[in-house]
Amino acid sequence: MNNEIKKNILDQIEEARQYIEAKIKIKPQLGIVLGSGLGELAEEVEDAVVIKYEDIPYFKTSTVAGHDGSLIIGKFRDRNVIMMKGRVHFYEGYSMQEITFPTRVMKAMGITKLIVTNAAGAVNKEFSEGELMIINDHINMLGLNPLIGKNFDELGDRFPDMTNQYDKKFIQIAQDTANKLDIHIKHGVYAYMSGPSYETTAEVNMLRILGADAVGMSTVPEVIVAKHSCISILGISCITNMAAGILDIPLDHEAVIEVSNRVKDKFKTLVRGIVDEI
Ligand code: HPA
Repeated sequence: MNNEIKKNILDQIEEARQYIEAKIKIKPQLGIVLGSGLGELAEEVEDAVVIKYEDIPYFKTSTVAGHDGSLIIGKFRDRNVIMMKGRVHFYEGYSMQEITFPTRVMKAMGITKLIVTNAAGAVNKEFSEGELMIINDHINMLGLNPLIGKNFDELGDRFPDMTNQYDKKFIQIAQDTANKLDIHIKHGVYAYMSGPSYETTAEVNMLRILGADAVGMSTVPEVIVAKHSCISILGISCITNMAAGILDIPLDHEAVIEVSNRVKDKFKTLVRGIVDEI
């Protein structure tokens, strides 16, 4: 993206938007990003148009096992939705602008609301594996920001506010829905680390001191870009493991996928309920 001979981002967004819109008949209002192991919800989209990331201009493809890469556009709970089954990450070698490009395109297609989901490790020792967490706030540990570079005023403000980037009304809806469905849910602060190595014990201790409850390797760049784009955001983490050093066991990706698979029915029930109210 920072290659000078490439078109500017506005042209790229427009090209991707036109490519997708030529294949669909509806106008999506709600975007849902499905993180590791949580992609099954996409199977519930009716009249679904599925478009692989690799076919969409300027979209990057995931290089990680368990991370699909397709857009699923159609009706879900009577709403026009666009689901992202899988996302690309900074640790895969893509730029901040590249990993957030799909968010820009969803905005150009007309979404005003976005639900982002991820797998995360618990930093808060009161949390347990298999729980869900509403993201109340985040800490960006990277020292990098997807908005660095020329600002296009058409896309958003140069200095966007981040005080309420996770919409308070949506947080309340998520909590009320969880109560109604008898789903136990936590609230917390998500710390964004680059990965791909898991954190050290010292890093997890540091994150706890800084006020984090969970840690993961995604979501924050797209939330920053969504807020820049004036999209209202809800974030939900699936706590797949206790973060490094809390238990005396090594972390591995298979275990993360295994737990998110175990939690997926609860997760799907919650998201269905939230979408009905949001
Ligand atoms: N750390 C970072 N990312 C993660 C973790 C973790 O412990 N679990 C799932 N994603």
